[in-house]
Amino acid sequence: MAQFTLPKNSKYTEGKAWPKPEGASNVQEFRIYRWNPDDGANPRIDTYYVDRDDCGPMVLDALLWIKNNVDSTLVFRRSCREGICGSCAMNIMGGNTLACTLGIDECGSGAIKIYPLPHMPVLKDLVPDLTSFFAQHASIQPWLQTETAEPETEWRQTPEERSKLDGLYECILCACCTTSCPSYWWNGDRFLGPAALLQAYRWLIDSRDEATGERLDNLHDPFRLYRCHTIMNCANTCPKGLNPAKAIAEVKKMMVARAV
Ligand code: SF4
Ligand code: SF4
Ligand code: FES
Repeated sequence: MAQFTLPKNSKYTEGKAWPKPEGASNVQEFRIYRWNPDDGANPRIDTYYVDRDDCGPMVLDALLWIKNNVDSTLVFRRSCREGICGSCAMNIMGGNTLACTLGIDECGSGAIKIYPLPHMPVLKDLVPDLTSFFAQHASIQPWLQTETAEPETEWRQTPEERSKLDGLYECILCACCTTSCPSYWWNGDRFLGPAALLQAYRWLIDSRDEATGERLDNLHDPFRLYRCHTIMNCANTCPKGLNPAKAIAEVKKMMVARAV
């Protein structure tokens, strides 16, 4: 049987346990992944204690509380704190989700464990390198492509045509789905992953778009589309309640329909 050994620097160590906030009676423990590319050390797990009576209700509130009150070196992305920008995606208690829309009370009992999104290179602490994720999104050409002359006012759609974009346009490109997909873990350099494919379908079924054939040609590849094996992790983890697996299945149906 093949045996695999993890590279030495991929093993994390026990990090610093920061002191509990003085005088606090309602304290929540957090165990947070830390890694600094500049110090040459292995990743570590630091332990923090947050005063719940002085902190907002969401996991992102706790991260901000830690940064403001305990350890200003903790690095993570965030912007809107409304579940709109997708920046604060991370792995919390074993699931990929948005720190700003997950309540501390929803994390169960015991220490709350936070890691960066899995199977992506880490830039620092909770910040993954999403360069290839966004390059894959760009590769599906996520913009309206038309041949007919541009209308004087706007491209029109019937309510029925517009409704076909529901469940697709809401994607905030947080990468929770793509980084939870086992097929993407093993073939992330060639399989586009659920987020890019959901976006591909969003343009394929847009009644105004006139590049359907070229878009399907762009996906017709054993890896780019067909590495999806309907494992469904993507749909289970999406913090916006979307279903990339279903969108991917629809793209496959369009491939079949044009072949007959
Ligand atoms: S359904 Fe497809 S894209 Fe979604 S997690 Fe499974 S293999 Fe990945
Ligand atoms: S489909 Fe959901 S999980 Fe995937 S990138 Fe879009 S919002 Fe995030
Ligand atoms: S901070 Fe924007 S989605 Fe969480």
